[in-house]
Amino acid sequence: MSINNIKKEFPIFDEKIHNNDLVYLDSANSSQKPKIVLDRINDFYSKQFSNVGRSVHYLSVAATNMYENTRTSVQKYINAKDKNEIVFTKGATEALNLVANTLGQTVLEPGDEVIITELEHHSNYVPWHFLRKSKNIKINFAEINEDGEVPIENIEKLITEKTKVIAVTHLSNVTGAILPIKEITALAHSKNIIVVIDGCQGAPHLKLDMQDLDCDFYAISCHKMYGPTGLGVLYGKKKWLEKLPPYQGGGGMIREVKKDRITYGDLPNKYEAGTMATAQVIAFDQSIKFLETIGIENIMKHEKELIEYGQELLRKNNSVKLLGNPKDRGGVLSFTIEGVHPHDIATILDEDGVAIRAGHHCCQVLHDKLNIPASARASLGVYNTKDDLDKLNESINNCKKVFNI
Ligand SMILES: Cc1ncc(COP(=O)(O)O)c(C=O)c1O
Repeated sequence: MSINNIKKEFPIFDEKIHNNDLVYLDSANSSQKPKIVLDRINDFYSKQFSNVGRSVHYLSVAATNMYENTRTSVQKYINAKDKNEIVFTKGATEALNLVANTLGQTVLEPGDEVIITELEHHSNYVPWHFLRKSKNIKINFAEINEDGEVPIENIEKLITEKTKVIAVTHLSNVTGAILPIKEITALAHSKNIIVVIDGCQGAPHLKLDMQDLDCDFYAISCHKMYGPTGLGVLYGKKKWLEKLPPYQGGGGMIREVKKDRITYGDLPNKYEAGTMATAQVIAFDQSIKFLETIGIENIMKHEKELIEYGQELLRKNNSVKLLGNPKDRGGVLSFTIEGVHPHDIATILDEDGVAIRAGHHCCQVLHDKLNIPASARASLGVYNTKDDLDKLNESINNCKKVFNI
């Protein structure tokens, strides 16, 4: 499968948007789905459907095996040491809530400190804020520099004897900055600090190796990885997942339930309470195959070329201001146009079939820091081309004409 001709694998690109070809530049929000993933969902529901992990009949055993196969595929894809370090959740948001909540119940004491950054998505801030309210922990924000990066020194200088957790994004969904998470982890571990990575934007675009990164937790959003919605992955080191308590109670996560006592199942069942997103998990195996067939190195090379091209185009476009200029960056181009609200930019671009996102992108702290209420964001996926970026630029020019800029 060649990355140069990949659009044909995605049925959505056969659709017309306001009579235009679709230029989809909103993959940081959610990516489109290739046919093999869509077919797998349909096949599973049509021919193979059953709940997993409960019944002994043929369909249930087969579905359980398929569900567990995806766990193994994810384990291999991210090079986790053990299959049981892979927990399925309903999204990265739930994965991060699971980590904050269970650490809050066991490891964190009132007065303890958690370091996050000004780049964080609300999913990696609000769960810690809950602990600020309920446990009186303190949250310290590592500052961005003028390029929209968080240098490791800005984290290091916040570390005190009370720091118990460093929770940071792998790749910013606004400035595109890639954080040096291997170095951050090494620094944190030298001081016995737990490392939690929000990998939502890292996982679709970067090569992942949990054993090399050595972080304690890594949260993944499957719908941004050409997979179904309603599914996330929490990678957690076995020593932590064994030690921490369950997050939700219900069927599937228990060993024994008596009137006076309850014991919990082994990993990973302990964290997978209730009926899981069975079809989504099974179809996600195809997303991993899709990524593997193209090859992450090819994806990284392709997206790097595009981001450089897009950056250059927008820099040359008068009155477009790019947010951040990180040296190590992923496929996100956030921008403002003076005098035009980002929602107006996105609405006018949409008329040309160009799908971008406008708003604060769930990063209000960052937008406050940049002194703007919102921004427009074009974000890349494997299917994008230089032609898409030319259309983005043309459409921005149409928008400027509407506003007499
Ligand atoms: C950086 C980042 N963190 C967390 C999330 C939340 O992920 P999910 O939709 O899987 O809950 C997103 C999604 O927009 C994100 O971009």
